Amino acid sequence: MSEAPTLDAVRHNTGPSRRFCVAPMMDWTTPHFRYLARILSKRALLYTEMVTTGALIHGDTERFLRHDPSEYPLALQLGGSDPGELAHCAKLAEQFGFDEVNLNVGCPSDRVQNNMIGACLMGHPDKVAEAVAAMIAATDLPVTVKHRIGINGRESWDELCEFIDKVSAAGCRTFIVHARIAILEGLSPKENRDIPPLKYDWVYRLKERYPHLEIIINGGIKTFEECHEHLRHTDGVMLGREAYHNPWLLAGVDTEFFGEPAPVANRHEALRAMFPFIQQELDRGVYLTHISRHIMGLFHGMPGGRQFRRHISENAHKHGSGLEVIQAALARVRMPEPATVAES
Ligand SMILES: Cc1cc2nc3c(=O)[nH]c(=O)nc-3n(C[C@H](O)[C@H](O)[C@H](O)COP(=O)(O)O)c2cc1C
Repeated sequence: MSEAPTLDAVRHNTGPSRRFCVAPMMDWTTPHFRYLARILSKRALLYTEMVTTGALIHGDTERFLRHDPSEYPLALQLGGSDPGELAHCAKLAEQFGFDEVNLNVGCPSDRVQNNMIGACLMGHPDKVAEAVAAMIAATDLPVTVKHRIGINGRESWDELCEFIDKVSAAGCRTFIVHARIAILEGLSPKENRDIPPLKYDWVYRLKERYPHLEIIINGGIKTFEECHEHLRHTDGVMLGREAYHNPWLLAGVDTEFFGEPAPVANRHEALRAMFPFIQQELDRGVYLTHISRHIMGLFHGMPGGRQFRRHISENAHKHGSGLEVIQAALARVRMPEPATVAES
Protein backbone atom coordinates (compact mmCIF):
# COMPACT_ATOMS: atom_id res chain seq x y z
CA MET A 1 0.00 0.00 0.00
CA SER A 2 1.07 3.58 -0.54
CA GLU A 3 2.38 5.60 2.37
CA ALA A 4 0.90 8.79 3.74
CA PRO A 5 2.52 11.96 2.32
CA THR A 6 5.53 13.19 4.23
CA LEU A 7 5.59 16.67 5.72
CA ASP A 8 7.98 17.66 2.97
CA ALA A 9 5.49 16.52 0.37
CA VAL A 10 2.81 18.63 2.01
CA ARG A 11 5.14 21.61 2.01
CA HIS A 12 5.39 21.18 -1.74
CA ASN A 13 1.67 20.94 -2.16
CA THR A 14 1.45 24.44 -3.58
CA GLY A 15 2.34 25.71 -7.00
CA PRO A 16 0.47 26.45 -10.18
CA SER A 17 -2.66 24.61 -11.25
CA ARG A 18 -1.84 21.62 -13.42
CA ARG A 19 -5.39 21.03 -14.58
CA PHE A 20 -4.32 21.81 -18.15
CA CYS A 21 -0.64 21.65 -19.13
CA VAL A 22 1.26 22.10 -22.38
CA ALA A 23 3.96 19.43 -22.63
CA PRO A 24 7.70 20.06 -22.76
CA MET A 25 8.85 19.58 -26.37
CA MET A 26 12.42 20.05 -27.60
CA ASP A 27 12.71 22.66 -30.36
CA TRP A 28 8.96 23.27 -30.15
CA THR A 29 8.09 24.77 -26.77
CA THR A 30 10.67 27.51 -27.20
CA PRO A 31 10.15 30.98 -25.67
CA HIS A 32 8.56 32.04 -28.98
CA PHE A 33 5.93 29.33 -28.98
CA ARG A 34 5.30 29.85 -25.27
CA TYR A 35 4.71 33.55 -25.82
CA LEU A 36 1.96 32.70 -28.30
CA ALA A 37 0.55 30.01 -26.02
CA ARG A 38 0.31 32.53 -23.19
CA ILE A 39 -1.57 35.03 -25.34
CA LEU A 40 -4.11 32.28 -25.98
CA SER A 41 -4.44 31.03 -22.40
CA LYS A 42 -3.59 32.72 -19.12
CA ARG A 43 -4.11 29.52 -17.12
CA ALA A 44 -2.50 26.63 -19.00
CA LEU A 45 0.73 25.61 -17.28
CA LEU A 46 3.57 25.79 -19.79
CA TYR A 47 6.73 23.67 -19.73
CA THR A 48 10.07 24.57 -21.27
CA GLU A 49 11.98 22.25 -23.54
CA MET A 50 14.22 19.89 -21.58
CA VAL A 51 17.53 21.45 -20.55
CA THR A 52 20.25 19.11 -19.33
CA THR A 53 22.07 19.84 -16.11
CA GLY A 54 25.33 19.70 -18.06
CA ALA A 55 24.18 22.40 -20.47
CA LEU A 56 22.97 24.62 -17.63
CA ILE A 57 26.07 24.24 -15.51
CA HIS A 58 28.72 24.33 -18.22
CA GLY A 59 26.92 26.24 -20.98
CA ASP A 60 25.31 29.62 -21.38
CA THR A 61 22.99 29.45 -18.36
CA GLU A 62 21.28 32.77 -19.10
CA ARG A 63 20.43 31.73 -22.63
CA PHE A 64 18.96 28.36 -21.57
CA LEU A 65 16.80 29.91 -18.85
CA ARG A 66 15.74 32.96 -20.80
CA HIS A 67 12.00 33.57 -20.82
CA ASP A 68 9.54 36.43 -20.79
CA PRO A 69 7.76 37.15 -17.49
CA SER A 70 4.46 37.00 -19.37
CA GLU A 71 5.01 33.24 -19.79
CA TYR A 72 4.19 32.47 -16.14
CA PRO A 73 3.05 30.03 -14.86
CA LEU A 74 6.06 28.25 -16.32
CA ALA A 75 7.85 25.04 -15.36
CA LEU A 76 11.48 24.32 -16.17
CA GLN A 77 12.15 20.76 -17.27
CA LEU A 78 15.54 19.33 -16.38
CA GLY A 79 17.34 16.33 -17.80
CA GLY A 80 19.93 14.71 -15.58
CA SER A 81 20.51 12.19 -12.83
CA ASP A 82 23.31 13.52 -10.65
CA PRO A 83 21.64 14.68 -7.40
CA GLY A 84 24.14 17.48 -6.76
CA GLU A 85 23.83 18.86 -10.27
CA LEU A 86 20.05 18.60 -10.25
CA ALA A 87 19.90 20.36 -6.88
CA HIS A 88 22.06 23.16 -8.24
CA CYS A 89 19.84 23.52 -11.33
CA ALA A 90 16.65 23.45 -9.22
CA LYS A 91 18.07 26.38 -7.28
CA LEU A 92 18.76 28.18 -10.56
CA ALA A 93 15.15 27.58 -11.62
CA GLU A 94 13.99 29.33 -8.48
CA GLN A 95 16.41 32.22 -8.92
CA PHE A 96 15.25 32.74 -12.49
CA GLY A 97 11.59 32.91 -11.48
CA PHE A 98 10.18 29.58 -12.68
CA ASP A 99 7.09 28.24 -10.93
CA GLU A 100 8.04 24.54 -10.91
CA VAL A 101 10.97 22.31 -11.68
CA ASN A 102 10.30 19.05 -13.47
CA LEU A 103 12.56 16.04 -13.94
CA ASN A 104 12.45 14.23 -17.28
CA VAL A 105 12.14 10.47 -16.79
CA GLY A 106 10.37 9.89 -20.10
CA CYS A 107 12.67 10.75 -22.98
CA PRO A 108 13.84 7.63 -24.80
CA SER A 109 16.55 9.04 -27.10
CA ASP A 110 19.89 7.17 -27.30
CA ARG A 111 21.78 10.35 -26.78
CA VAL A 112 20.23 10.95 -23.37
CA GLN A 113 20.30 7.27 -22.35
CA ASN A 114 24.08 7.29 -22.62
CA ASN A 115 24.14 10.06 -20.05
CA MET A 116 21.59 8.42 -17.73
CA ILE A 117 18.92 10.96 -18.58
CA GLY A 118 15.29 10.37 -19.41
CA ALA A 119 13.26 7.16 -19.60
CA CYS A 120 16.18 4.83 -18.79
CA LEU A 121 15.94 6.20 -15.24
CA MET A 122 12.66 4.31 -14.82
CA GLY A 123 14.93 1.31 -14.33
CA HIS A 124 16.62 3.08 -11.39
CA PRO A 125 13.89 4.26 -9.02
CA ASP A 126 16.36 4.67 -6.13
CA LYS A 127 18.47 7.01 -8.20
CA VAL A 128 15.42 9.08 -9.17
CA ALA A 129 14.33 9.20 -5.52
CA GLU A 130 17.78 10.40 -4.47
CA ALA A 131 17.77 13.06 -7.18
CA VAL A 132 14.28 14.25 -6.28
CA ALA A 133 15.16 14.45 -2.58
CA ALA A 134 18.21 16.57 -3.42
CA MET A 135 16.12 18.89 -5.61
CA ILE A 136 13.44 19.28 -2.94
CA ALA A 137 16.08 20.10 -0.33
CA ALA A 138 17.52 22.77 -2.63
CA THR A 139 14.39 24.70 -3.57
CA ASP A 140 10.96 25.74 -2.36
CA LEU A 141 9.57 25.24 -5.86
CA PRO A 142 7.35 22.22 -6.44
CA VAL A 143 9.48 19.38 -7.82
CA THR A 144 7.58 17.15 -10.24
CA VAL A 145 8.47 14.11 -12.34
CA LYS A 146 7.38 13.33 -15.90
CA HIS A 147 7.69 9.66 -16.75
CA ARG A 148 6.33 6.71 -18.72
CA ILE A 149 4.32 3.78 -17.40
CA GLY A 150 7.40 1.62 -17.91
CA ILE A 151 10.30 0.71 -20.15
CA ASN A 152 10.84 -2.52 -22.05
CA GLY A 153 11.90 -5.24 -19.62
CA ARG A 154 10.43 -3.28 -16.71
CA GLU A 155 6.86 -2.82 -17.66
CA SER A 156 4.81 -4.51 -14.95
CA TRP A 157 2.26 -2.77 -12.76
CA ASP A 158 4.29 -3.67 -9.66
CA GLU A 159 7.43 -2.08 -11.08
CA LEU A 160 5.52 1.09 -11.90
CA CYS A 161 4.19 1.17 -8.33
CA GLU A 162 7.69 0.58 -6.96
CA PHE A 163 8.81 3.65 -8.93
CA ILE A 164 5.98 5.80 -7.58
CA ASP A 165 6.44 4.48 -4.02
CA LYS A 166 10.12 5.34 -3.94
CA VAL A 167 9.90 8.70 -5.68
CA SER A 168 6.89 9.84 -3.64
CA ALA A 169 8.61 8.75 -0.43
CA ALA A 170 11.41 11.13 -1.45
CA GLY A 171 8.83 13.95 -1.40
CA CYS A 172 7.54 14.21 -4.98
CA ARG A 173 3.79 14.58 -5.00
CA THR A 174 3.11 15.34 -8.67
CA PHE A 175 3.60 12.72 -11.35
CA ILE A 176 2.99 13.48 -15.01
CA VAL A 177 2.46 10.15 -16.67
CA HIS A 178 2.86 9.55 -20.41
CA ALA A 179 0.49 6.59 -20.67
CA ARG A 180 2.74 4.28 -22.71
CA ILE A 181 6.02 2.48 -22.13
CA ALA A 182 9.23 3.58 -23.82
CA ILE A 183 11.14 1.00 -25.82
CA LEU A 184 14.75 1.87 -25.28
CA GLU A 185 16.30 -0.01 -28.18
CA GLY A 186 15.14 -0.06 -31.77
CA LEU A 187 12.58 2.75 -31.80
CA SER A 188 13.27 6.39 -32.54
CA PRO A 189 11.95 9.02 -30.10
CA LYS A 190 9.21 9.80 -32.63
CA GLU A 191 8.19 6.13 -32.90
CA ASN A 192 8.26 5.95 -29.12
CA ARG A 193 5.52 8.57 -29.06
CA ASP A 194 3.23 6.54 -31.32
CA ILE A 195 3.97 2.82 -31.38
CA PRO A 196 3.77 1.56 -27.78
CA PRO A 197 0.03 1.38 -27.05
CA LEU A 198 -1.60 3.96 -24.79
CA LYS A 199 -2.87 2.53 -21.51
CA TYR A 200 -4.91 5.30 -19.96
CA ASP A 201 -6.45 2.85 -17.50
CA TRP A 202 -3.03 2.40 -15.86
CA VAL A 203 -2.88 6.13 -15.12
CA TYR A 204 -6.43 6.06 -13.75
CA ARG A 205 -5.42 3.13 -11.52
CA LEU A 206 -2.45 5.12 -10.25
CA LYS A 207 -4.79 7.89 -9.11
CA GLU A 208 -7.01 5.32 -7.40
CA ARG A 209 -4.07 3.72 -5.62
CA TYR A 210 -2.38 7.02 -4.68
CA PRO A 211 -5.25 9.46 -4.06
CA HIS A 212 -2.95 11.80 -2.09
CA LEU A 213 -0.66 12.27 -5.10
CA GLU A 214 -1.37 14.59 -8.00
CA ILE A 215 -1.54 12.53 -11.18
CA ILE A 216 -1.47 14.27 -14.56
CA ILE A 217 -2.21 12.23 -17.67
CA ASN A 218 -0.38 12.66 -20.98
CA GLY A 219 -0.27 11.01 -24.40
CA GLY A 220 -2.44 11.22 -27.51
CA ILE A 221 -5.01 13.67 -26.11
CA LYS A 222 -6.54 15.89 -28.78
CA THR A 223 -9.92 17.31 -27.80
CA PHE A 224 -11.54 19.03 -24.83
CA GLU A 225 -14.03 16.19 -24.73
CA GLU A 226 -11.18 13.74 -24.16
CA CYS A 227 -9.69 16.08 -21.54
CA HIS A 228 -12.96 16.15 -19.59
CA GLU A 229 -13.13 12.36 -19.65
CA HIS A 230 -9.54 12.10 -18.32
CA LEU A 231 -10.29 14.72 -15.66
CA ARG A 232 -12.94 12.40 -14.23
CA HIS A 233 -10.09 10.03 -13.28
CA THR A 234 -6.99 12.22 -12.87
CA ASP A 235 -6.04 15.68 -11.57
CA GLY A 236 -4.89 17.20 -14.83
CA VAL A 237 -4.18 16.72 -18.51
CA MET A 238 -1.05 17.50 -20.49
CA LEU A 239 -1.21 18.01 -24.25
CA GLY A 240 1.83 18.12 -26.49
CA ARG A 241 1.55 17.72 -30.24
CA GLU A 242 -2.07 18.85 -30.55
CA ALA A 243 -1.35 22.07 -28.64
CA TYR A 244 1.59 22.77 -30.94
CA HIS A 245 -0.02 21.93 -34.27
CA ASN A 246 -3.36 23.51 -33.40
CA PRO A 247 -2.53 26.22 -30.84
CA TRP A 248 -5.93 27.93 -31.21
CA LEU A 249 -7.21 25.09 -29.05
CA LEU A 250 -5.51 26.87 -26.15
CA ALA A 251 -7.80 29.87 -26.59
CA GLY A 252 -10.64 27.81 -25.15
CA VAL A 253 -8.77 26.51 -22.10
CA ASP A 254 -9.47 29.35 -19.64
CA THR A 255 -13.22 29.17 -20.21
CA GLU A 256 -13.49 25.40 -20.53
CA PHE A 257 -11.34 24.37 -17.55
CA PHE A 258 -11.17 27.44 -15.30
CA GLY A 259 -14.50 29.20 -15.89
CA GLU A 260 -12.71 32.40 -16.87
CA PRO A 261 -13.15 34.60 -19.93
CA ALA A 262 -11.10 33.78 -23.03
CA PRO A 263 -8.11 36.15 -23.29
CA VAL A 264 -8.50 36.75 -27.04
CA ALA A 265 -11.49 36.91 -29.36
CA ASN A 266 -9.93 35.55 -32.55
CA ARG A 267 -6.73 34.38 -34.19
CA HIS A 268 -6.02 37.75 -35.82
CA GLU A 269 -6.11 39.49 -32.47
CA ALA A 270 -3.82 36.81 -31.00
CA LEU A 271 -1.20 37.22 -33.70
CA ARG A 272 -1.35 41.01 -33.58
CA ALA A 273 -0.78 40.84 -29.84
CA MET A 274 2.49 39.11 -30.64
CA PHE A 275 3.82 41.81 -32.98
CA PRO A 276 5.65 43.93 -30.36
CA PHE A 277 7.37 40.80 -29.03
CA ILE A 278 8.32 39.66 -32.54
CA GLN A 279 9.78 43.10 -33.24
CA GLN A 280 11.67 43.06 -29.95
CA GLU A 281 13.16 39.67 -30.81
CA LEU A 282 14.11 40.76 -34.34
CA ASP A 283 15.77 43.84 -32.86
CA ARG A 284 17.97 41.63 -30.72
CA GLY A 285 19.08 39.71 -33.79
CA VAL A 286 16.79 36.66 -33.76
CA TYR A 287 16.02 35.36 -37.27
CA LEU A 288 12.39 35.65 -38.29
CA THR A 289 12.23 31.91 -39.14
CA HIS A 290 13.11 31.03 -35.54
CA ILE A 291 9.93 32.80 -34.48
CA SER A 292 7.64 32.27 -37.44
CA ARG A 293 7.87 28.47 -37.48
CA HIS A 294 6.07 28.40 -34.14
CA ILE A 295 3.05 30.38 -35.34
CA MET A 296 2.44 28.26 -38.45
CA GLY A 297 -0.31 26.26 -36.74
CA LEU A 298 -2.39 29.25 -35.67
CA PHE A 299 -4.71 29.17 -38.69
CA HIS A 300 -4.83 25.37 -38.79
CA GLY A 301 -7.99 24.25 -40.57
CA MET A 302 -9.12 27.80 -41.40
CA PRO A 303 -9.95 29.23 -44.84
CA GLY A 304 -6.76 31.00 -45.95
CA GLY A 305 -4.65 29.04 -43.47
CA ARG A 306 -2.67 27.41 -46.24
CA GLN A 307 -1.89 30.76 -47.89
CA PHE A 308 -0.85 32.11 -44.49
CA ARG A 309 1.64 29.26 -44.04
CA ARG A 310 2.84 29.42 -47.63
CA HIS A 311 3.57 33.14 -47.46
CA ILE A 312 5.65 32.62 -44.33
CA SER A 313 7.47 29.56 -45.74
CA GLU A 314 8.36 31.38 -48.94
CA ASN A 315 9.46 34.65 -47.38
CA ALA A 316 10.52 34.40 -43.74
CA HIS A 317 13.94 32.92 -44.56
CA LYS A 318 14.90 35.73 -46.94
CA HIS A 319 17.70 38.01 -45.86
CA GLY A 320 16.42 40.96 -43.83
CA SER A 321 12.87 39.63 -43.48
CA GLY A 322 10.94 41.32 -40.72
CA LEU A 323 7.51 41.74 -39.22
CA GLU A 324 6.07 42.80 -42.61
CA VAL A 325 6.20 39.12 -43.71
CA ILE A 326 3.91 38.14 -40.85
CA GLN A 327 1.63 41.12 -41.50
CA ALA A 328 1.34 40.19 -45.18
CA ALA A 329 0.66 36.55 -44.29
CA LEU A 330 -2.06 37.66 -41.89
CA ALA A 331 -3.68 39.75 -44.62
CA ARG A 332 -4.18 36.51 -46.56
CA VAL A 333 -6.64 35.15 -44.00
CA ARG A 334 -10.03 36.77 -43.80
CA MET A 335 -11.03 38.40 -40.51
CA PRO A 336 -13.91 36.58 -38.90
CA GLU A 337 -17.29 38.33 -39.08
CA PRO A 338 -17.97 40.28 -35.87
CA ALA A 339 -20.33 38.34 -33.64
CA THR A 340 -23.92 39.53 -34.05
CA VAL A 341 -25.38 41.09 -30.95
CA ALA A 342 -28.11 38.87 -29.59
CA GLU A 343 -31.49 40.59 -29.56
CA SER A 344 -32.92 40.96 -26.12
C1 LIG B 1 9.04 17.39 -30.89
C2 LIG B 1 8.86 16.79 -29.52
C3 LIG B 1 9.81 17.01 -28.55
C4 LIG B 1 9.64 16.49 -27.26
N1 LIG B 1 10.55 16.81 -26.28
C5 LIG B 1 10.31 16.42 -24.99
C6 LIG B 1 11.11 16.90 -23.92
O1 LIG B 1 12.04 17.69 -24.09
N2 LIG B 1 10.83 16.44 -22.67
C7 LIG B 1 9.80 15.57 -22.42
O2 LIG B 1 9.56 15.19 -21.26
N3 LIG B 1 9.02 15.13 -23.41
C8 LIG B 1 9.23 15.56 -24.68
N4 LIG B 1 8.36 15.18 -25.68
C9 LIG B 1 7.22 14.31 -25.33
C10 LIG B 1 6.00 15.15 -24.97
O3 LIG B 1 6.24 15.95 -23.83
C11 LIG B 1 4.77 14.25 -24.72
O4 LIG B 1 5.05 13.44 -23.61
C12 LIG B 1 4.45 13.37 -25.92
O5 LIG B 1 4.50 14.10 -27.13
C13 LIG B 1 3.06 12.73 -25.77
O6 LIG B 1 2.05 13.72 -25.65
P1 LIG B 1 1.13 14.16 -26.91
O7 LIG B 1 0.58 12.89 -27.50
O8 LIG B 1 0.09 15.05 -26.34
O9 LIG B 1 2.04 14.85 -27.89
C14 LIG B 1 8.51 15.68 -26.96
C15 LIG B 1 7.56 15.48 -27.96
C16 LIG B 1 7.71 16.03 -29.22
C17 LIG B 1 6.63 15.82 -30.26
